[in-house]
Parts: sequence; structure tokens; C-alpha cells
Amino acid sequence: MEKKYGLIGATVSHSFSKSYFDEKFFREGLRDYHYDLYSLPIIDDLKKLLEETPELEGLNVTIPYKEQVVKFLNEIDPEAKKIGAVNVIKIKDGKLKGFNTDSDAFHETLEKWFPRTKESKALILGTGGSAKAVQQALKKLSIPYQMVSRDKAKADYTYEDLDQDGKIIAGVPLIINTTPLGMSPDTNNFPPINYEQLTPEHYVYDLIYNPARTIFLQKAEMRGSHIKNGLEMLHVQAEKAWAIWNN
Ligand SMILES: NC(=O)c1ccc[n+]([C@@H]2O[C@H](COP(=O)([O-])OP(=O)(O)OC[C@H]3O[C@@H](n4cnc5c(N)ncnc54)[C@H](OP(=O)(O)O)[C@@H]3O)[C@@H](O)[C@H]2O)c1
Repeated sequence: MEKKYGLIGATVSHSFSKSYFDEKFFREGLRDYHYDLYSLPIIDDLKKLLEETPELEGLNVTIPYKEQVVKFLNEIDPEAKKIGAVNVIKIKDGKLKGFNTDSDAFHETLEKWFPRTKESKALILGTGGSAKAVQQALKKLSIPYQMVSRDKAKADYTYEDLDQDGKIIAGVPLIINTTPLGMSPDTNNFPPINYEQLTPEHYVYDLIYNPARTIFLQKAEMRGSHIKNGLEMLHVQAEKAWAIWNN
């Protein structure tokens, strides 16, 4: 019997999720399984998609709908509820249940790469759905963090605050980009921080995986910082989504 899965987001053409699942289905001989990309100009279009595609058994959710999608769910996993963002939906008998696999995927990949000490601190750029998943992972790892936003009301700092006080970046070893700045096709963009303040002691993690080396990561690398992109996180969260759809 045909089984359909897919990704919803505002623009999904940049995503590697389809090629990841297409290769997985091929490798594992799952011939009746399909994964498609669904660009939804507004989240309300999800209703129409579900009506038109009754074979759908699971969805991934990407920018900018990880928070907005919550109101369409019949049920939400307690961990995703705590996080306040959903990136995986399981569909059964027409009912939608939301999960968050971004947080555990970020947790796993950060733990392997970042040498945590008692003094570890982090700065999170952006305050959207993936920033919420990152916050939950940092809480579990006991890494204190501060948020950076364009809007002072949403965070500890604005980008202007970072500019005015060079000690903020200098004193925080882990910098995580959860904004879409630099993501394909807008690859010339980058978060407006002072890269001169980065050092070889900094660990700079970009959740973006396409392109593999954003300008954000290139600038950090030029300062000698350790860098990591979001590709491993994407693969780990996708396997966790697969386990949810098939349990
Ligand atoms: N590797 C992975 O597995 C993985 C997983 C999740 C997400 N991601 C990537 O992470 C990125 C964000 O995804 P998301 O779902 O969190 O998106 P989102 O919910 O739309 O949040 C993005 C946040 O970035 C900030 N932002 C947006 N436009 C900006 C701009 N022009 N200048 C400065 N800041 C801006 C905003 O925070 P403020 O309004 O506070 O400034 C916004 O809340 C995407 O590139 C996505 O592909 C990767």
C-alpha cells in the first residue's frame, strides 16, 4: 500500500529532506514509500493539503511554521509542548500528533562536538522554532544561554547591543545561528555580528546545512574558530522522525 510523507514550509526547494528519504526508501527497498516537498504560502493551506492527500502518514515541518502548526494538531507530545515548537507530525486515522526531534538531534550533535566545561555559556541568534528546540537542549546539557533578536522585547540582546559591547561575544564560547540568514538561495546574507570578536576558542554552530559553509561559518573559520553546520543535525532529526512514523 502506498505511504506518503513530506515536508511543509513556506519555501522548501532548498531542503535536503526529500533526497534523504528518497535514498533511504531506495536503499531499504521501500518501493511504495514516497516523500514530497509541499510549499505552503500560508499555514492554513495545510487543511487543503490533508484533504487532497489522504495517504499522508507523516510530515516534517520547517521554516516558518514550527510554532504556527501547533493549532492544527489533535495531540502534542509533552516534550514538544514544553518546547513550544513542532517539526514532526504523525498522521493516523485523520488525527495529527506533533513531536519535536530537532531538540534531541541538536543535543546529540552538540554533545559530541562541543567540549562542555562548568564555564560553558551560549549565545543563540534568532528566537524562532528551532531556537526553542536549541534552548531545551542547552537546558538539558546545563549550558546557560542568552538570546539575540532583532527585537529587544524578545531576547536578552539585540544585534546593536552586541556591537556596542564587544565583551558579550568575547565571553561566550558557543555561538549558535538559528536564523535563516545565509540559507540558500540567499547565500550572501549572514547574521550582523562583529566577527572580529571571534577567536580560536569559539565554537560556532550554524543550523543551516545548505550551503554547507555559510558566510557566517566562513567568517568564523577565518578567525580560527571551530565550526559546524546543520547537516548532521538534519540527518539525526530525520531518523528520529522516521522512528516516530513507524513505531
Ligand atoms: N539542521 C537542521 O536540522 C535544522 C533544523 C531546524 C532548523 N534549521 C534551520 O534553521 C533556520 C531557522 O529555522 P526556524 O524553523 O527556526 O525558522 P523561524 O521559526 O522562522 O525562526 C527564525 C528566526 O530567525 C530570526 N530571523 C528571521 N529573519 C531574520 C532576518 N532577516 N534577520 C535577522 N534575524 C532573522 C527571527 O528571530 P528574531 O525575530 O528574534 O530576530 C526568527 O524567529 C532555517 O535556516 C532552517 O533551515 C535547520
